[in-house]
Amino acid sequence: MRISVIGCGYLGAVHAAAMAKLGHDVVGVDVDAAKVDDLANARAPFFEPGLPELLAESSASGRLRFTTDMSEIAGSQVHFLCVGTPQKRGEFGADLGYVNSAFDAMLAHISPGDVIAGKSTVPVGTAENLAERLGVAEPGAVLVWNPEFLREGFAVKDTLHPDRLVYGLPDGAPGEHAKALLDEVYATPLSEHIPLVVTDYATAQLVKVAANSFLATKISFINAMAELCEATGADVTSLADAIGHDARIGRRFLNAGLGFGGGCLPKDIRAFMARAGELGVDQALSFLREVDSINMRRRVRMVDLAREVSGGSIVGRRIAVLGAAFKPNSDDVRDSPALSVAAQMQLQGAHVVVTDPQAIGNARKKWPDLSFADTAEEAATGADVVLLATEWDEYREIDPEKLALVVREKRVLDGRNGLDPELWRAAGWTYRAL
Ligand code: UGA
Repeated sequence: MRISVIGCGYLGAVHAAAMAKLGHDVVGVDVDAAKVDDLANARAPFFEPGLPELLAESSASGRLRFTTDMSEIAGSQVHFLCVGTPQKRGEFGADLGYVNSAFDAMLAHISPGDVIAGKSTVPVGTAENLAERLGVAEPGAVLVWNPEFLREGFAVKDTLHPDRLVYGLPDGAPGEHAKALLDEVYATPLSEHIPLVVTDYATAQLVKVAANSFLATKISFINAMAELCEATGADVTSLADAIGHDARIGRRFLNAGLGFGGGCLPKDIRAFMARAGELGVDQALSFLREVDSINMRRRVRMVDLAREVSGGSIVGRRIAVLGAAFKPNSDDVRDSPALSVAAQMQLQGAHVVVTDPQAIGNARKKWPDLSFADTAEEAATGADVVLLATEWDEYREIDPEKLALVVREKRVLDGRNGLDPELWRAAGWTYRAL
């Protein structure tokens, strides 16, 4: 099938390459010429495990191309809208600027029978609005909402083997037509085993933000328990293990630490609260305000802990921050807890040196005032405190005996409960964790 993918960020680039791998003829469109040039030459514009290989394979097949020219979507039967919906500056709501401008630009090239499949995370009501505009511009085309649930770091796997597919369809024949086309898009030998939820626009849009809100709540729940554990000397990791054995609760997303960041969970829960307010049901989501504040409190607590182990002040202390990305296996630094803590400690007078296996380039662009080092050893040289902020495997596997040789003081703060306290203490370190 001929497919177009509009917006080639983390979501769209992976989706385009994955659809080509499934055998479709795909054109990816983005307004960013540098990104298009990278993708057209089978280079991944960001770090995402497996994407370079997928791009190489799909490009070599001749079924994948990229362009800045929107008119090239003409002739595709399904058009995936994959642009970003960042948080508005100074407000909780989502900025729909990219969605609206991409959608307007698409309309001139849509033909009767085409399906536009929205994948972006949007406030509920957006699909209904886009469908109305589509109805005016090209009444023979159909809008569907087909949210995406991929995680950065696992984007390729999640796109090729999703946990579920959700179609939000209009009623009647247009909905049936769109469903048939989407079924064909996703018809792989694997899709037989993928649960499919067919529903209406509103539900499909809500599924996405409900899922992210649940995940954020789970993380903040365990971080709230961590506060109780700190106050009582209990161990939050054992607590998470124990409650996680209950299949109704489950152990995943119960890792206490610096909390959630990135381009999705924080802005999605805020946009959801803003939308609930517009709909007059803000009370229903007032708990998300608490989820957000528990999460932000983690960062403050981390800085406090650094002060505590440094004898009451971090002024002039050298602090090595291991990790800059918002999570391991990503070079994404959007709303990164690691960088937020690093910047705060620097503001308070510490000499902070940040390292990361993949995200230094992005971190440097956003936080030019911080100091950066290429390796953990370099960052830790002469350090008074070493702080694990993003739990990359290579940091979890650091040999504390070896690192002890380069630091000034053997103090380690585990912001992700990713280190083995026994091992570090045995090597003479003062170990503290959130
Ligand atoms: C999240 C969702 O997990 C995806 O399902 C969703 O599709 C995506 O947002 C999106 O809306 O596009 P992502 O932001 O890539 O994916 O990352 P997550 O793996 O969810 O991690 C988010 C943050 O939570 C990270 O900062 C991570 O360190 C933190 N986290 C995660 C914890 O602090 N504890 C945990 O137990 C799990």
